[in-house]
Amino acid sequence: MTMFVASLFISVLLMPPIAEATILSPSGISMLPFTIPAVTPLLLSPASVPMICAITVILTHQPKDTVTIQAASHGPLTLGPAVAGGFAAASIDIGVSANPWSPESCGLKENGEVNLGVLTNFASRSVREMTVIGKAVTESFYGKRSQYQELLDGILAGAPWIYWPTYVIAELWSQVVMKEVGVYPSPDELNAVVAAAILVCGEIDEVKDGVINEPEKKIYTRPETGGRQLWYGIPIGAPLDSLANTTAVNGTRIGFTSFVPDTWTRYFVKWDPGYRTTSIELCTTTCLTMRILIYHGFNTPGGNFLVWHGGAYQPIFPQGGTLYVQRVGAVMNHYGFGTTPGARTSNAFEMLIAWAEYGITLEFLKGQTLPLASVQLRRKICRYPLVSRYRGFGNMNELKSFECV
Ligand SMILES: *[C@@H]1O[C@H](CO)[C@@H](O)[C@H](O)[C@H]1NC(C)=O
Ligand SMILES: *[C@@H]1O[C@H](CO)[C@@H](O)[C@H](O)[C@H]1NC(C)=O
Repeated sequence: MTMFVASLFISVLLMPPIAEATILSPSGISMLPFTIPAVTPLLLSPASVPMICAITVILTHQPKDTVTIQAASHGPLTLGPAVAGGFAAASIDIGVSANPWSPESCGLKENGEVNLGVLTNFASRSVREMTVIGKAVTESFYGKRSQYQELLDGILAGAPWIYWPTYVIAELWSQVVMKEVGVYPSPDELNAVVAAAILVCGEIDEVKDGVINEPEKKIYTRPETGGRQLWYGIPIGAPLDSLANTTAVNGTRIGFTSFVPDTWTRYFVKWDPGYRTTSIELCTTTCLTMRILIYHGFNTPGGNFLVWHGGAYQPIFPQGGTLYVQRVGAVMNHYGFGTTPGARTSNAFEMLIAWAEYGITLEFLKGQTLPLASVQLRRKICRYPLVSRYRGFGNMNELKSFECV
């Protein structure tokens, strides 16, 4: 019976034309209620999903690629909570499901040139296609048009990859500095640096809890050339084990570049899979050119863009989010930053709905540490530019002991 519902729906499903793309095959199955087990860090607690109709749409572009869109599917863990909450949800693999972690299999064409199709999917095209098709499937299933005609009423983005072309290259900076000074700390030494930094900077805060307020204002070192700042630095308190990683080879310690800046530099900057990113030297003129791209994808006046960053999150510097909000601030609303490494929020999606649907803006997100963290605490993640401050009395692990100032 449920099988029948999904295939009947597919047989009457009308897909909108999508610029540049050809839709190959919508397919669907009905699924009985099930539970998605928790998988850190993508899904922190199990999600109970009601009976759903899972639709898969495959599309392709020229030059040939294969991009899969899943609507209300159990596949990507990130869809679980939204579907469990009674929402229609969609996700897209941007055509790299074979190896989503590395551009190795798809970054370069056979002739060695950059695969611009894949890069276009990654940078912008896929988000739009997922939105248009996800809405078409949903509207077709429920037989109603959505209330608003704009593409999106609101966006909730956790640690978004804003300014990707710039900050991914900036992530090489620790390796450049280590090469310049000829010192490659061991993991223990790096951990000692982080602990000392938290101790010193945490002293400035009124609550000595290992959480640094506004960590993005205190950084280790930032990429610069000839005194000119190229991008931001890693916030104090963030671990250094990935970006400033080292490895011992034949008894000698050498640099070890994190896989994202490593692969993106090799494939998309150098077009050379064999290039060694640990060989990049400090220079005063031009070695690495950094370029800032501004994302104009969502600039409807009054658009609700809710973004939050972990202030001490090593791979995605929070300052990029701040810069973006300042640049497009006239049309964006925005909530500030979690400062705890490994934080989560419990009310971000509800807040987006209250905001986008009812125009209610709340002052803070409810932040708390991850379930398995050694220290359990709660913090307000305040609306930018406000920051969370201890009121001076009350339990330091409770939200009500803090205010946004
Ligand atoms: C650091 O480098 C080692 C190799 O020495 C590697 O095994 C490890 O995964 C790296 N750590 C991170 C966090 O990337
Ligand atoms: C480590 O030693 C082996 C064996 O002597 C050698 O083949 C290899 O090139 C050395 N690696 C480095 C990075 O020096």
